[in-house]
Amino acid sequence: MRTILILNPKGGCGKSTLATNIASYFAMNGKKVTLADCDPQRSSQDWLNVRPENQSKINSAVLEKGSLQIPEDTDVLVMDTPAGVNDARLSKFLSQAQTMVMPVLASPIDIRAAERFIDELFSLKGTINNKIKIATVANRVREDTLIAAKLEYYLDKLTLPNGKQLPFMTMLRASQNYIHASEKGLSIFELAPSKTYYDREQWEPLLRWLDSSKSLPK
Ligand SMILES: Nc1ncnc2c1ncn2[C@@H]1O[C@H](COP(=O)(O)OP(=O)(O)OP(=O)(O)O)[C@@H](O)[C@H]1O
Ligand SMILES: [Mg+2]
Repeated sequence: MRTILILNPKGGCGKSTLATNIASYFAMNGKKVTLADCDPQRSSQDWLNVRPENQSKINSAVLEKGSLQIPEDTDVLVMDTPAGVNDARLSKFLSQAQTMVMPVLASPIDIRAAERFIDELFSLKGTINNKIKIATVANRVREDTLIAAKLEYYLDKLTLPNGKQLPFMTMLRASQNYIHASEKGLSIFELAPSKTYYDREQWEPLLRWLDSSKSLPK
């Protein structure tokens, strides 16, 4: 089973948005997907509850008393996590996944916080040694701001404690498409292509990475 963890302790940066869209992408491609909601807020669960029956099926799992019941035939497990995860809980999440995607809001403050968090991540035993592949995604980027131009520069400079560059996959613009899709239990890949053309293009690098062995430990 392939496990993709969506994590950043910062609240509201787009974890549930990435989790639901990634789950839908794999389900649309014929994989048996389970979306595990590990957040008591249950945003991913709410999304699954309104998901139309005629869309590709996604199984649901919720974290209860520290354990997840995952259907045995799951090909891809996508884990949506709460804000504020650290220390012991962080180690537990990391130990369960091969891949972690970290959404980062488009501001210098958020990027610096992300950098500190990544340092913390790598100070935990077991995360180094290529046991988990991590990538960042800039989310809710307002393309008309100066910040957007600077963002790529900042993100390109993010390094891991071992000196390697942290893969920065893509920038996702702030778009009502994400809000409309989430209200209907859909992903942007299930909205009209003509309306989401630009968003789909922005997702391409992340999806290519997730589909490749580069997002899996050696
Ligand atoms: N690219 C985007 N464009 C527009 N709105 C977005 C985008 N990404 C996320 N949002 C909206 O921002 C809000 C927060 O996103 P989301 O719930 O995915 O964050 P989160 O990290 O899961 O939050 P929490 O830490 O509370 O779980 C939601 O209303 C979501 O619809
Ligand atoms: Mg959430």
